Amino acid sequence: SAAEKGGYDYFMMKEIMEQPKAFKATISPRIVDGEIKLDNIKYTDEDIKNINRIHIIACGSAWHAAIVGKYVIEDYARIPVEVDLASEFRYRNPILDKNDICIIISQSGETADTLAALREAKRQGIRILAIVNVVGSSIARESDDVLYTWAGPEIAVATTKGYSTQVALMYLLAMKFGQARGYLSAEEVKKLTAELELVPGYIEKLLTMDEELKELAKAHAHANDVFVIGRGIDYAVALEGSLKLKEISYIHSEAYAAGELKHGTISLIEEGTLVVAIATQDPLYEKLVSNVKEVKARGAYVVAIAKEGNTEIAEVADKVIYIPQINDKFTASLNVIPMQIFSYYVAIERGCDVDMPRNLAKSVTVE
Ligand code: G6P
Repeated sequence: SAAEKGGYDYFMMKEIMEQPKAFKATISPRIVDGEIKLDNIKYTDEDIKNINRIHIIACGSAWHAAIVGKYVIEDYARIPVEVDLASEFRYRNPILDKNDICIIISQSGETADTLAALREAKRQGIRILAIVNVVGSSIARESDDVLYTWAGPEIAVATTKGYSTQVALMYLLAMKFGQARGYLSAEEVKKLTAELELVPGYIEKLLTMDEELKELAKAHAHANDVFVIGRGIDYAVALEGSLKLKEISYIHSEAYAAGELKHGTISLIEEGTLVVAIATQDPLYEKLVSNVKEVKARGAYVVAIAKEGNTEIAEVADKVIYIPQINDKFTASLNVIPMQIFSYYVAIERGCDVDMPRNLAKSVTVE
C-alpha cells in the first residue's frame, strides 16, 4: 500500500530517501568519542596485525561494496585485499592461508552462492567476518563474527540503502584495521570519523536534487547504451551505478575504468551516446577531464559527477552534478546517490516496475 511505501510510488524511492538515516544508524553506535568500536567482534589488535590477506566475497551490489572496501582497506591498513564473486570463489579452489580472513557481505544473509563460499572458506579453517543486514540470517549464524548494517528491511529488489550501509562498514573496518596496524593515528581516526559523520547530511543534500535528476532521466530515457566511467573508488561506484540502471530500466549499460576506455568502450561511442563520468578522486581529476574530452570528441553526451568547486570539468562536460567536498574515500557514499535517483526515474519514464524488475529476485537462495 501507499502507506507502506511511505507515500512514495515505490519502495525503492522510499529506501533511497532512507539512506541518511540508515547510514547514521550503521556508523553512530560504532563511533564513540572519535574512536571506532566494532560491537562485540572478537578481533584484538594483535589479531588484526596478524592478518595476512583479506578475501571479500559477495554477489551483486554487495560485490561492488567489496570493491570499495578493497580500495579503502588497502590504502588505510596496507593489507592486501582480494575481492571475489561468490559464484567464482566457491568453485575455483581458492588459495587461502591460515592467517587470511574472509569478509562475507550480504544484505539478505541468504544468497546461496555467498553462503556456499562462506562454507568453503570455513571448511579450510579461515576466520569469517560477515557484514549482513538481516539479523539471524544463515550467513550471520554461520560466521565467526558479524557486523550488522542497520539499514532496516529492504523490500525493493534493487538495493540502495543496503549497499550504502555496507560501504559505511567498509570505511569503519578500514580505519579500525589501519589504526591497529599503525598506519593511522588515533588523531587521524578521530578526524576521519568526524568527516564520516557528515556523510548522512551530505546524502540528505543530494536527495534534494530529485527534480533535476528526473528531468535528466526524461531526456535520456530512450538511450540504447549508457557508459559509466571512473577511476579508483569512482570506478567501483561506476559499477554500482551501471548495475542500478540496467537492473531496473533494462537499458544496456557498462561501467569502465576510465583508463581502459581506449582499450574497448571508446569504439562504441557515437553521436549522442550517454556517458556518465565520475570525477571525484583529486589526484585523478585531470585524467578524468581528459577522458571526458576523448568521448566528447566522438560525440558523447557527458554527465559528470564532480566535487563542488572543481568546475574545470564544466567546460568539457554537457552537465555536471556536484557533490559536497569530502575526502576521496568517502565520495563513494555520495556519488552513488544521483546514480540511484537517475536510474529510478529512467525506469519510471520507461514504464518499468521499479520494485520488481523482470527476471530478478531480491534474494537468490538457489544456485
Ligand atoms: C540479488 C539482488 C541484488 C543483490 C544480490 C546479492 O541479485 O537483486 O540487489 O545485490 O542478490 O544479495 P545479498 O542479499 O547477498 O546482498
